[in-house]
Amino acid sequence: MNAENEHSRSIWMDHPGTGETPALAGDLTVDVLVIGSGIAGLSCAYELVGSGHQVAVVDRGLLGRGMTARTSAHLSFEIDDFFEELRSLRGEEACRQYYESQCAAVDRIEEICRQEAIDCDFVRVDGYFVPATEKDVDYLRKELDAAHAAGFADVEWVDSGPAAWRQGPALRFPRQGRFHPLKYLDGLVRNLRVRGVNLYTETSIVGLEEKDDRVKAKTASGNTITAARAVVATNTPFHLRIPIHTKQAPYRTYVVAGPIPKGAAPDALIWDTLEPSYHYVRLQPGHDKDMLIVGGEDHKTGEAGDMDERLSRLEAWARECFPELGPIAHKWSGQVFEPSDYVPFMGKSPGYERVYIITGDSGEGLTTGVAGALLIRDLIDQGASPWAAVYDPDRLMLRGAVEFVKENVDAAKHWMAHLQGGEVSSLDDIRPGEGALIKLDGKMTAAYRTNEGELKLCSASCTHMGCILRWNPFERCWDCPCHGSHFSTDGEPLQGPAFSPLSKVEAG
Ligand SMILES: Cc1cc2nc3c(=O)[nH]c(=O)nc-3n(C[C@H](O)[C@H](O)[C@H](O)COP(=O)(O)OP(=O)(O)OC[C@H]3O[C@@H](n4cnc5c(N)ncnc54)[C@H](O)[C@@H]3O)c2cc1C
Ligand code: FES
Repeated sequence: MNAENEHSRSIWMDHPGTGETPALAGDLTVDVLVIGSGIAGLSCAYELVGSGHQVAVVDRGLLGRGMTARTSAHLSFEIDDFFEELRSLRGEEACRQYYESQCAAVDRIEEICRQEAIDCDFVRVDGYFVPATEKDVDYLRKELDAAHAAGFADVEWVDSGPAAWRQGPALRFPRQGRFHPLKYLDGLVRNLRVRGVNLYTETSIVGLEEKDDRVKAKTASGNTITAARAVVATNTPFHLRIPIHTKQAPYRTYVVAGPIPKGAAPDALIWDTLEPSYHYVRLQPGHDKDMLIVGGEDHKTGEAGDMDERLSRLEAWARECFPELGPIAHKWSGQVFEPSDYVPFMGKSPGYERVYIITGDSGEGLTTGVAGALLIRDLIDQGASPWAAVYDPDRLMLRGAVEFVKENVDAAKHWMAHLQGGEVSSLDDIRPGEGALIKLDGKMTAAYRTNEGELKLCSASCTHMGCILRWNPFERCWDCPCHGSHFSTDGEPLQGPAFSPLSKVEAG
């Protein structure tokens, strides 16, 4: 199981998968083990098999059905938190490395689509950064300067934005891209199979240790995978308790999509300056009509329960900007990890010699996932990468310290929730289809009542580091506000870093 098993369905999930893939049924020895089959893991497998390694990929869910199935799939070189912010925090060299790696990632996707004949609707489009209010126009000037300094020389100021709703100035980012993420991943899977890569689904890794120049990975069903190296591409690293998790914070983000007549919205990527969470817009082409995809309304995981209001606001904004938008056909949410200095953690895992990680995706994990695959291939094959410094997972983050402290104070607060009372005082207060925290025998319990009235009771203590979970009424799962784990109503882990199920509680 994984995030595929959360309640909402994205526009991409209608796409049929690549057929049956078995679970690992015995021990395995391989050159490189890739854990996770999202864009990061499958891209790593593709790059490593291409440079001559024998590779196996395992996933605890179906192939490619983690957060990559919940994306909006903009392929942009712009950094989620903007070049101006990165320049202030980490300087121009970091911006240059970031820009180069993101350009290389979109080029690589385009090249792979061509080489492997993957038909995934990939096209290059313009990206537009638009001010949410008049007073944000000045910020655009700063961002233009920072983007140029990063090496993105052809970003330009345009006096009129991309669509009727945005007549004022904007920045135009040429050569961005869009694609259908699951068609792309399915193309990679087909190619990996032909090249002899073993792929396993429903295979959860629950332990990772280095011994005698080898990495040993334990699966939940008791098998051992022995590899010379392992890549942890599980969106957030399951094998680490403290490192990394204190340097990034989980955020839920929301998307609505509906049909729109051809020509009524530009085939472009659009994002605005709205704080604390910007809107992001793109088209997915259809036969008679296109689909307009609009995202935003982010909040820190576990800190909101008003998902319906957020989705309504998103729809209202989309209708105001694009009056020809038809009925909303898809509403979904997903989660991203925001690193406190804006840049993902990609490279050698803290505390390990033979294990590599890709995490800290922010809203650009498709391109950073592909860049991470190129970086890790170079680290494994050549011992160096031109982008190693900017993404170094072990980097000191003194200059991101304010964000770092804030996010960790929040985590401590969620751990202290053990000491508080529950949200309801009686199980009878929980209506069908709802979940709530309740204290039973002095222990905080995650209680869910099915539509049929059956109660499901689990410990509310996250199996990663013990923070108290929160009910997510939209995805009908339990979210951990500390480091972003999600659990099903049966207590099964759906999203890391947790990999163990919640313990069951008997009704008294
Ligand atoms: C709503 C939304 C919009 C977004 N929009 C954009 C965008 O426009 N552009 C962009 O670039 N990015 C965007 N992102 C971010 C991007 O989609 C993600 O960062 C990216 O898809 C993550 O890929 P991944 O391979 O790291 O993780 P995943 O796709 O989650 O893959 C990780 C895999 O690891 C598996 N796994 C986890 N733990 C284990 C374990 N212990 N054992 C075995 N397997 C395990 C999971 O089952 C999963 O399949 C968006 C994200 C969301 C949620
Ligand atoms: S994810 Fe770390 S405590 Fe829950």
